[in-house]
Amino acid sequence: VNSKTAQLIDLHEQAAKLYHHILVNTEMGQPALDYLHNRGLTDETIETYQLGFAPAQRLLKPFFEQRQADYQLLRQSGLFIENAQGDLRDRFTERVMFPLRNASGHVAAFSGRVLKKSDDQPKYLNSPETALFTKSRLLFNFDLARPAIREAGEVILFEGYMDVISATQAGVRNGIASMGTSLTTEQIYAIERTTDHLNICYDGDTPGQRATQRAIGLLREHSHLDLSVIQLPEGQDPDEYRRAHGDEGFQKVMQSAKETPIRFQLRYLRRDRALETDSEQLDYLNEALPLLAQVNEPVALDLYLNQLATEFHLDKAALVARLKQVRQVDG
Ligand code: UTP
Ligand code: MN
Ligand code: MN
Ligand code: MN
Ligand code: MN
Repeated sequence: VNSKTAQLIDLHEQAAKLYHHILVNTEMGQPALDYLHNRGLTDETIETYQLGFAPAQRLLKPFFEQRQADYQLLRQSGLFIENAQGDLRDRFTERVMFPLRNASGHVAAFSGRVLKKSDDQPKYLNSPETALFTKSRLLFNFDLARPAIREAGEVILFEGYMDVISATQAGVRNGIASMGTSLTTEQIYAIERTTDHLNICYDGDTPGQRATQRAIGLLREHSHLDLSVIQLPEGQDPDEYRRAHGDEGFQKVMQSAKETPIRFQLRYLRRDRALETDSEQLDYLNEALPLLAQVNEPVALDLYLNQLATEFHLDKAALVARLKQVRQVDG
């Protein structure tokens, strides 16, 4: 670790401490603390994740100036916005602060959430890319989750910070987040070095489902991970599910809602399809069979074929024949 990196990390860890102090010990932080409590987080969870608050009044600038921090270092930290005159202002204001730790557990960046959603502000504002922070490489909570991932022999991939934090509070500690819906190959390689089984648990809304479909393709192409999909009820994200069903309900669904990627993909193919006319049904079957062609386990394959045959009142032998053709074309 060179000294500049160490200094940048030190800045971030001091900033995290300050934001956390504002949240838990001051009048200024009270609305944000109420917000987190209303979202069902305990003080212990707030402590574990060192959540914080950046108030309207800009604090970081005077704080670091008093400590005679180096101007160039402050500029490069991403914690400030620079105007044309070269003046620095705190980047984060009026946001609940989520420290983003790297794989070694050091705070490398922040994400700040608005207390109330508005149209003219992004819900979460992230640090820009810096010497410490490359968004496509970082996995939220990977440092804390790693022992639990090893113990469970599997990891759960969520979309968001609050999903991971909510899971941890429910006792499910092997969760990490891709910080949005676009999983990257760098993140996949990092996961693969720690475990061989990945559960995708993205939000139950349309973007989440689309991202699940995309992630399955990317993971198949770039890893040997065993994959499962944890499917939540339509429209809910994992944090919302815990709020609705409690910690035990959450633990249960993480175990019981697991399905194979093929099962997910077959259902995904059906979204927004009426499947009423012959041609709609044929289109669906022609897209479904190439998925089945990837299934190497005979028992699983037979199960899916039986289900398709029953559902569309088809002769299973016809499906098997068609599957053979598909496999030959694919080589
Ligand atoms: P979601 O929109 O699903 O938000 O984005 P969320 O995690 O459920 O957040 P809450 O519950 O409303 O607080 C999933 C993830 O995408 C990233 C964040 O990492 C977020 O947790 N994201 C989302 C951003 O980086 N910026 C945004 O404006 C929105
Ligand atoms: Mn504390
Ligand atoms: Mn989402
Ligand atoms: Mn969500
Ligand atoms: Mn949410």
